[in-house]
Amino acid sequence: MGDLNGKVAIITGAGRGLGREEALQLARQGARVVINDIDRDDAREAAEATAEDVRGIGAEAITCYGDCADTNDANTLFKAALDAFGDVNIMVNNAGFCRDQTIFNMDDEQFDSVVKVHLRGHFVNMRNASGYWRGKAKQDGSVYGRMISTSSEAAIFGSAGQPNYAAAKAGIIAMTMGAAQLLIKYGVACNVIMPRARTDMTNSGLTAEMFAAPEQGFDAFHPANVAPLVGYLASPEAGHISGEVMVVWGNQVDVLERPKFGPKFVSPDGGTWNVSDLHQRLSSHFDADHTPVLDGFSVPPQ
Ligand SMILES: NC(=O)c1ccc[n+]([C@@H]2O[C@H](COP(=O)([O-])OP(=O)(O)OC[C@H]3O[C@@H](n4cnc5c(N)ncnc54)[C@H](O)[C@@H]3O)[C@@H](O)[C@H]2O)c1
Repeated sequence: MGDLNGKVAIITGAGRGLGREEALQLARQGARVVINDIDRDDAREAAEATAEDVRGIGAEAITCYGDCADTNDANTLFKAALDAFGDVNIMVNNAGFCRDQTIFNMDDEQFDSVVKVHLRGHFVNMRNASGYWRGKAKQDGSVYGRMISTSSEAAIFGSAGQPNYAAAKAGIIAMTMGAAQLLIKYGVACNVIMPRARTDMTNSGLTAEMFAAPEQGFDAFHPANVAPLVGYLASPEAGHISGEVMVVWGNQVDVLERPKFGPKFVSPDGGTWNVSDLHQRLSSHFDADHTPVLDGFSVPPQ
């Protein structure tokens, strides 16, 4: 079950946090892993440690440094995987960072950098993997491809202090859905996870308290709890699961339902709406008790 022997996985941002655990998980299942992280001393050190731990499991690993959102670096990453292992089967887009600020105080750099690392970071690597798999399917008649994207509950509930991050994470869902629709005919599965875990990213502010390690008992927010779902979605058994979004942490996986239309209103005369007709119809739906904004959920997203 979950056998990935002979498969090759690329994981972006795998030096630390969730990416590291996902690389170890895929390696435990037999995959050869390509560990990416940003080209910075501390990140290199962390990525080398992940690679060593993968080798300790008895699996093969290489590291490749660069910005996950840079086209040249992403191309170098994909080529490094092909050069080292001759194939790519699993693309886990995970890398990213936050620059939190309310929308009225957010500067252009905070917005652009976060949208770039998450949304463009997914795009350039998804482009490489999907193009490769399409080409291989046409040439060989079949291909083994699994795309796993990393979103956040911020994408569906909003996050008042993270408009850049929430928007990027919403874009990742839309982009992955489109890839899933396009690639299903080649047998490639594309899914999205929304993790909750105690990592460098969540280790400050409110989430630090909420995701704190317990003094005893089950550590629900350990990032290792997220990795088995990535291992499963990458596996042969999960090939028919595509276009899904799943929240994952602790001992639970919540499969999101697809958005569906709610109540429908049609103009009384069948023509273009006017404002007073809209008021008449919609005011009964949005009555005085209607909550004007979503009030979030039990654990704030990152
Ligand atoms: N931790 C959570 O609760 C949580 C919740 C929702 C979503 N996520 C998402 O999970 C993913 C992993 O986050 P994490 O919590 O493990 O954070 P983390 O900070 O522990 O790890 C992120 C990794 O990405 C690397 N990285 C950053 N910028 C990069 C770049 N430009 N190119 C390559 N690597 C880069 C970092 O060096 C680091 O190793 C992120 O996409 C994050 O948004 C995390």
